[in-house]
Amino acid sequence: MGKFYITTPIYYVNDDPHIGHAYTTIMADVLARYHRTAGDEVLFLTGTDEHGQKVEQAAKARGVSPQAHCDEMVLRFQAQWQSLNISHDDFIRTTEARHRRVVQEILQRLWDAGEIYADDYEGWYCVPDERFWTEKDLVEGKCPECGREVVRISEKNYFFRMGRYQEWLIQHIQTHPRFIRPGTRRNEVLGFLKNPLNDLCISRPKARLSWGVPLPFDGAYVCYVWFDALINYITAPGYLQDDGEFNRWWPASCHLIGKDIVTTHCVYWPTMLKAIGLPVPDTVMPHGWWLVDEAKMSKSLGNVVRPLDLADRYGVDAFRYFLVREMVLGLDSSFSESAFVQRYNAELANDLGNLLNRTVVMADRYVGGVVPQVEAGHAVPGPLQKQALKTLDRVRHALEDLNPAGILDAIWGLVREANRFAEVQAPWNLAKHPHKRKALEATIYGLLETMRHLAVLLFPVMPGKAREIWEQVGAEGALEDQRFQDLKSWGGLRAGLRVRAAGPVFPRVDGTLIEAEAEPDEQDTREHRMSEERKDRISFQEFQKLDLRVARIEAAERVEGTDRLLKLQVNLGDAQRQLVAGVAQHYEPDALVGAQIVVVANLAPATIRGVASEGMLLAASGDGHLTLLRPDSEVPDGTAVS
Ligand code: MSP
Repeated sequence: MGKFYITTPIYYVNDDPHIGHAYTTIMADVLARYHRTAGDEVLFLTGTDEHGQKVEQAAKARGVSPQAHCDEMVLRFQAQWQSLNISHDDFIRTTEARHRRVVQEILQRLWDAGEIYADDYEGWYCVPDERFWTEKDLVEGKCPECGREVVRISEKNYFFRMGRYQEWLIQHIQTHPRFIRPGTRRNEVLGFLKNPLNDLCISRPKARLSWGVPLPFDGAYVCYVWFDALINYITAPGYLQDDGEFNRWWPASCHLIGKDIVTTHCVYWPTMLKAIGLPVPDTVMPHGWWLVDEAKMSKSLGNVVRPLDLADRYGVDAFRYFLVREMVLGLDSSFSESAFVQRYNAELANDLGNLLNRTVVMADRYVGGVVPQVEAGHAVPGPLQKQALKTLDRVRHALEDLNPAGILDAIWGLVREANRFAEVQAPWNLAKHPHKRKALEATIYGLLETMRHLAVLLFPVMPGKAREIWEQVGAEGALEDQRFQDLKSWGGLRAGLRVRAAGPVFPRVDGTLIEAEAEPDEQDTREHRMSEERKDRISFQEFQKLDLRVARIEAAERVEGTDRLLKLQVNLGDAQRQLVAGVAQHYEPDALVGAQIVVVANLAPATIRGVASEGMLLAASGDGHLTLLRPDSEVPDGTAVS
């Protein structure tokens, strides 16, 4: 059993949680959960960065103390993580006593060891912004942020001797290819280190900023917020506590961060650790940036994507799935709701949702809703069994590689294989021949067992939906207790268990939901106009409610006592249906057998002349003439008509 310690950045407590924060935290959660499933001991840490000027100013503006302000603001992050089903083991706030104590102790030790020294700091200062800038930051000699005049100031400050670790750091990065990943970021950092590395100013005079950790050796100063914040990664696992916990967890396995904070994590932090006398983390992994329609998110552009809006609309699990699936490791991604809807319908509703649905529906229909017994060595589910084991291997490799999107890729290989398997085995055909009973049972078993594997494999990404899958196939035990180890032996789903079909886990969603996003007023008038102008039209949304599908007529006979009605048995690919249709005056029953037609598959059942009818066929009729609608060429039974 290994151990895995993963962290997210600690977020500025002032910020409104948005999709960027959610992404890092969900990715960390997914990796943490996969490691738990792999049987590792896991420490997953997140938290908030609560010191600094912005917090001080925001608190002042609201007329509350900075601490009271933080205590209030932090709740939004905590609530957000709870809603997104984040399974962190610890939540650290930099204003907690446990953290301030560690920061002060480290500062004192580094001061005593001569790693920190006092010197005059010279720079350009923007008085209204209360901020220092270097010569090259300035824009036409003015403050790059507000455009106002800057003044040259020289003041005493404290510096960490970062520069002395430059050669060591370059060496470390070069000899530890896993330290900064992906390689493009590693090269960027090495590029940055080609220039001389300066010492780091780690203090701010209290006269300008008081909301911080006081320097233990000079009460007139507080600690620079980054020097304070980075230390959270060692505070939480218990640095400077005597209980031995810290040595169990440190060095961290992975600091997951965004590309905006690479220098602090790949230069400041390792040199700080070196000076403190601690090993550096195994991996720092910066990911790309979420953009919205190719632009950076910003409050002023009004394009900030709030995670909970999406989670409310499409479900937390679909949202988690999309974020993990969509972003290529290290690259930027542009968020668009229509890409979300597309993936949702294609991958969740179709690939995965339909697979589950057809599996449990067929289990109900053909084997009485009970997990069938398969004779040892029965060859039928062979390809599935092989694919399931291969998938487990691929998942483990991708996990080793810290690549959740790669994990999903591997899992979808199994989903597709299972769908193919169902098509090839065609249980609906096997069911017609009593001597193929064994093959039918083995097929259903193979699909059910695959769904059990998929529930375990998907749990870290979609904990809620995976549980629904687990329950529908009737699997025993708590899903969260399942380990990769348990998937090594195929056949864990015990014969005799009850399958519990419960409807689609991912009902299809409609792209027009996006339109419903428009401002309410605008929407109202638009709808009003539409209804005035086109009273008799239906919306795309309404149309999409129709489940139109190609079906094959397998048997046809007249309904006794009528001369208009035929009773048809049709095959919908994964289901058989009986329809009653008023076509007897136009078609001889025998002439229809084998024909493909189009049916409305989700019509409420009705009884017509005492005969049950579960659907309706489509025909063109007029002037006493009637002709059935048929596909122009053969397609698989059950194909959707859109
Ligand atoms: N407080 C510092 C981090 C200190 S860690 C010792 C900080 N906080 S932050 O609130 O600004 O969060 C930055 C992090 O949020 C990024 O590194 C990234 O993980 C995430 N993201 C914020 N916006 C993002 C996007 N638009 N896209 C992807 N992730 C981004 O920096």
